[in-house]
Amino acid sequence: MVGQGVLRECLLDPDVTQVLSVVRSSTGQKHDKLRELVHQDFTDFSPLQRELSGYDACFFCLGVSSAGMSEADYTRVTYDITLAAARVLVKANPRMTFVYVSGAGTDSSEKGRSMWARVKGRTENALLALPFKAKFMFRPGYIQPMHGIRSKTRWYRAMYALAAPLFPVLDAAFSNAVTTTERVGRAMLVVAKRGAPRTLLGNADINALAASTRAL
Ligand SMILES: NC(=O)c1ccc[n+]([C@@H]2O[C@H](COP(=O)([O-])OP(=O)(O)OC[C@H]3O[C@@H](n4cnc5c(N)ncnc54)[C@H](OP(=O)(O)O)[C@@H]3O)[C@@H](O)[C@H]2O)c1
Repeated sequence: MVGQGVLRECLLDPDVTQVLSVVRSSTGQKHDKLRELVHQDFTDFSPLQRELSGYDACFFCLGVSSAGMSEADYTRVTYDITLAAARVLVKANPRMTFVYVSGAGTDSSEKGRSMWARVKGRTENALLALPFKAKFMFRPGYIQPMHGIRSKTRWYRAMYALAAPLFPVLDAAFSNAVTTTERVGRAMLVVAKRGAPRTLLGNADINALAASTRAL
């Protein structure tokens, strides 16, 4: 869901000349600026090192809900896959800006009681130690999908459909707690082009960065 939203904004942005989308199964999406690379083993990106070079930014949107998962399994998807990609990317593109989507409540101490927050915190900390040109950790809270984008998770889809008519009210009342796929994508493009005052960016930062594009 987040990845689709970010891809949409990248394809719409005239400053973006080329997007490489790395997926485990083809989405079927076609666009002049888009190249889709289907890769089976997300624990090893080294065979792709050459194809992953020459890019200014990586918007890393892969992630799963921790519901019903053991810490070991959640770590394999959250930490192992992200770091496998990041280590190959930083070798191929030392001037790259790396943007990771974690979530509101991520635990930078890695010691708290919430399993998902510890694992996301460990993932963020390991990414922050890599020698990219710049690194930004997006920590959104509630994200409303826009423009027909759908979550892969069935019960999320039902929740988003119920929330859609209420979203303008939620957005007005709790603007720092909610964001949208459009704003996440636009904010990622802003940090890739201009950076941001902070490395850890919550909903309020994401919304402010996205709003700043209207003034450009
Ligand atoms: N949705 C929200 O409101 C929200 C809020 C805060 C933070 N986040 C974070 O944002 C990230 C993305 O969430 P989302 O809502 O976009 O999830 P989503 O719609 O379920 O999409 C997850 C993506 O990750 C890929 N993926 C999952 N496991 C994989 C694996 N083992 N190997 C390869 N690819 C795998 C999926 O690939 P396939 O398409 O092939 O299945 C899919 O493209 C997560 O880290 C989540 O914690 C989401």
